[in-house]
Amino acid sequence: MLKKIETLSAEMLAELKKATSEAEVKEVEIKYLGRKGAFNDIMKALSSLSDEEKRTVGKEANITKGKLEGAVNKRIEELETEKLGKIADEEWMDMTVSGIKPERGHRHLISSFIEDLERIFAKMGFAYVDGKEIEEEHYNFNQLNIPDDHPARDMQDTFWLKDLPGKLLRTHTSANQIHHMEKNDPPTRIISMGKVYRKDSDATHSPMFHQVEGLMVGEHISMANLKATLTHMLRQVFEDDSIKVRFRVSYFPFVEPGLEVDCTSPRGGWLEIGGAGMVHPNVLENVGYDPNKYTGFAFGMGIDRMIMIKHGIKDLRLFFENDLRFIEQF
Ligand code: PHE
Repeated sequence: MLKKIETLSAEMLAELKKATSEAEVKEVEIKYLGRKGAFNDIMKALSSLSDEEKRTVGKEANITKGKLEGAVNKRIEELETEKLGKIADEEWMDMTVSGIKPERGHRHLISSFIEDLERIFAKMGFAYVDGKEIEEEHYNFNQLNIPDDHPARDMQDTFWLKDLPGKLLRTHTSANQIHHMEKNDPPTRIISMGKVYRKDSDATHSPMFHQVEGLMVGEHISMANLKATLTHMLRQVFEDDSIKVRFRVSYFPFVEPGLEVDCTSPRGGWLEIGGAGMVHPNVLENVGYDPNKYTGFAFGMGIDRMIMIKHGIKDLRLFFENDLRFIEQF
């Protein structure tokens, strides 16, 4: 009988070792230690033994059972540790690895340039005024000394708005001068910036582009003030104190004299960057300013053009294609 216990015990331990899951361990446990298990058969068989033998065998059987129960628990623990070890190997995570940064955008080249301009002019005392992209003919042309039949309207290839008589997409930011002067008395100093529209499209012309408009009206304002203002602005913009400005006589109905503005290029030579002039007395009268008392200058520059010059960009259309390979460079 004792021999039998020893054999059963060895068999069970061997089977436990082979069990690869908790369920399998339980099966082995039931097979040997369960109510209908091998050890119970031994207990039942004890009755046929002498008292002396009953005691020895019974005791041995109980001790062995105890040991085997311990072995069952140990095997379960072992399997659990193995499982966790495997998970740790396969599913580990390095908590110290830095995270994936969400991509952050930045201001478009044009927007940040507009902010720079606003700052440069603010330091010279120019207030910023906003305007409307859908403008009235009256402000875009008439008040600027461009009457209905004036050929100068042909200089600016206007987008008229269907079904909205007298409304158009502003062809220049000059209309903002009028809005401002109608509401404010001299002396005054403003700039205005934004999108303007003309039927024109090639590498250096886009049907939509950006302008900066400046206006300064007061007593004794002269072309010298205009030149100084533009020179300072361009030196700041191009970050080059050697930039020079020159005026060429030109024609815009709302200024007299009218001027083309050129500046020395950071890459050599002269570049045309906008129009300017002394505000026409008719315009001053239109907004109720006394042309005998007040004079003023006005200018309008292409923002996109200035950026192209600054960065050596050859094609204006790049600004509006929104190709990240371009945008990310600035
Ligand atoms: N508005 C003119 C244009 O777009 C530029 C300009 C502005 C000229 C102010 C003179 C004075 O062509």
